[in-house]
Amino acid sequence: MIYTYLNPRVALMGAGCVKRIGKQAKELGGTKALIVSGKSKHGEKLAEDIRKIIENSGFKAAIFAGAEPNPTDNSIMEGAKVYKKENCDMIVAVGGGSPMDCAKAVGIVVKNGGKINDYEGVGKVTKGIPPLITVNTTAGTASEMTRVAIITDTKRHIKMAIVDSHITPDVAVNDPELMVSMPPELTAATGMDALTHAVEAYVSTMATPTTDAAAIKAIELISKYLRKAVANGEDVRTRDMMAHAEYLAGIAFNNASLGYVHSMAHQLGGFYNLPHGVCNAILLPYVEMYNKQVCLERFSDIAKSMGENIDGLSSEEAADKAIGAIKKLASDIGIPSGLKKLGAREEDFELLAENAMKDHCRLTNPRCFSKEDIIDIYRKAM
Ligand SMILES: [Fe+2]
Repeated sequence: MIYTYLNPRVALMGAGCVKRIGKQAKELGGTKALIVSGKSKHGEKLAEDIRKIIENSGFKAAIFAGAEPNPTDNSIMEGAKVYKKENCDMIVAVGGGSPMDCAKAVGIVVKNGGKINDYEGVGKVTKGIPPLITVNTTAGTASEMTRVAIITDTKRHIKMAIVDSHITPDVAVNDPELMVSMPPELTAATGMDALTHAVEAYVSTMATPTTDAAAIKAIELISKYLRKAVANGEDVRTRDMMAHAEYLAGIAFNNASLGYVHSMAHQLGGFYNLPHGVCNAILLPYVEMYNKQVCLERFSDIAKSMGENIDGLSSEEAADKAIGAIKKLASDIGIPSGLKKLGAREEDFELLAENAMKDHCRLTNPRCFSKEDIIDIYRKAM
């Protein structure tokens, strides 16, 4: 099999590593950074902290603290305006998946022109983006290192997936000291997002030995450390292990892609404005119940890496152990038990299923789903 292996040029890992971004910025050759952060008090504070590091390293900086959760096409255009007005020539994103995706999308618009909606799909970014450093403060989306940006289309109420190797950040930063303040619910949701990345990449039709190694280690670390991270967020070593887990899961899905959990979760997130990790966490066991028949051995591996004893079990029984372990982990960390609790309505499932069948992530799902299959899974997950 011939394949291209995509990762950021540089990854900084470990406690205190954020202090090294100035050196990386020098190597990228910019002079003024647009710092993109979340639209909140916490986001503004993170942006100010990054501004100090950047300015102490001899650069100028402007701040766009305008990335909403599930960033919209409108906010991308606002960010692009600030970038141009301030004459920036590089971008530093800080926060979770939303500021990262927002920063990538702002980068696309300022270099390529037009509206962000023009770039939905795969490989439409022809002119690249400005130098991009991404400072991650959650352990979930892996947007700090992927070639993916998810932006909400405010007219169609859907999440657009933009997938392009040109938007891979130059420098990905995972400093666990920036993750200790993450509240338990966000830790749980983002951790389950990372687990979903690893599981979907491991059973993807594009999985390779490289992505398998990353996915299995990620599943092992998440099974071992996510409960601890939710219970005691202050523990830097636990946060560091979760940061490694989400980064490894990112390596896996950035190269092997995902599956129907994400295709279906994107519709829930876009339609009802729901948190991505929670939608994934609820759907994951139900989608994999459908998938398991075509890749029982893969699910046996997942069960083993989650610490389940599968000695003497048939491959189907072992696969069921994996799905049971995923459900138990979600329940232990307080993920809502079903979509009904999130406000999903059965009468919307037909439209959500139609849109899920157009979502790019489904292309590497190990099994083809019909519209009826998808509606059935949404119903089971209620
Ligand atoms: Fe995700």
